[in-house]
Amino acid sequence: MTEAELYSLYKGVYVPTCLHPPESLQYYEEFTFRPDDILIVTYPKSGTTWMQEIVPLIVSGGDPASVESLPNWDRVPWLEEHRAKVLNLEERPSPRMFSTHFHNNMMPPSFFKVKPKVIYVMRNPKDVFTSSFHYYGMTSFLVNPGTTSEFLSTFLDGKVMFGSWFDHVKGWLNAENKECILYISYEELLMDLKESVARISQFLEKPLDAKVTEKIADRCLFKNMKQNNMSNYSAVPREFMDQTKSEFLRKGIAGDWKNLLTLAEAEHFDAVYKDKMKDVKYKFVWN
Ligand code: A3P
Repeated sequence: MTEAELYSLYKGVYVPTCLHPPESLQYYEEFTFRPDDILIVTYPKSGTTWMQEIVPLIVSGGDPASVESLPNWDRVPWLEEHRAKVLNLEERPSPRMFSTHFHNNMMPPSFFKVKPKVIYVMRNPKDVFTSSFHYYGMTSFLVNPGTTSEFLSTFLDGKVMFGSWFDHVKGWLNAENKECILYISYEELLMDLKESVARISQFLEKPLDAKVTEKIADRCLFKNMKQNNMSNYSAVPREFMDQTKSEFLRKGIAGDWKNLLTLAEAEHFDAVYKDKMKDVKYKFVWN
């Protein structure tokens, strides 16, 4: 199916219409945040599901009840998704945990007024591209990626769900309320998960002792999360996500782009990256 059939244009970016019908986007526009809300913000395929496991475990002090009983999309729901409306989020006790793929300039008025806590997860865009390529090939609500080189153009032009990776990252790095934002990368989580859990718990003002930190980090290892039916998307029907084509928790590594992009494609990606990110001062781990 085509872009016109599957996507809507919302504030300049494509969103899959079936997941984000107009009434859900409206709900988000009118949403009222609380100062102690915790918001996981990501460009798709940057480690959202991983953070949806880590944050609830930190907030609960290591109690696995919620990660064992609630699917990730109800545990840390996307505010722009159709389910948000029916989850009674207004009644949830603090601290509430949410996810969003919105760019900074798409956030609703209450966000800028209330300034909840944000954890912004970034990932090497070549790996985001690679993860997306496999994901677009296994879902029925996204446009088929075509060949690698076709999808490379689509991705670099931002004609994918939630628009351009470059705009997303630049927008959030330039956010006004930086004191409320923890910037962390997928690669940092991979390099030292225990240290990352400790850093996140400190940011959330939820100190944990070393044993609990270690237990959380262990639960959130790729191989362990893969076994969690509340986090591995096994509950999603095959006509929506066909995990026989590619698993949702697919490889969980850094550098898989080397298995997908040719040398010329990688060089083209790097050239576009260099141009689009030339004014960014932030020191990314992948550089
Ligand atoms: P790959 O497709 O490269 O394996 P999102 O949740 O934002 O959609 O991101 C999905 C990506 O994060 C997938 O990447 C998935 O495997 C990876 N991921 C999820 N949990 C992970 C974990 N515990 N450790 C490493 N990678 C993880």
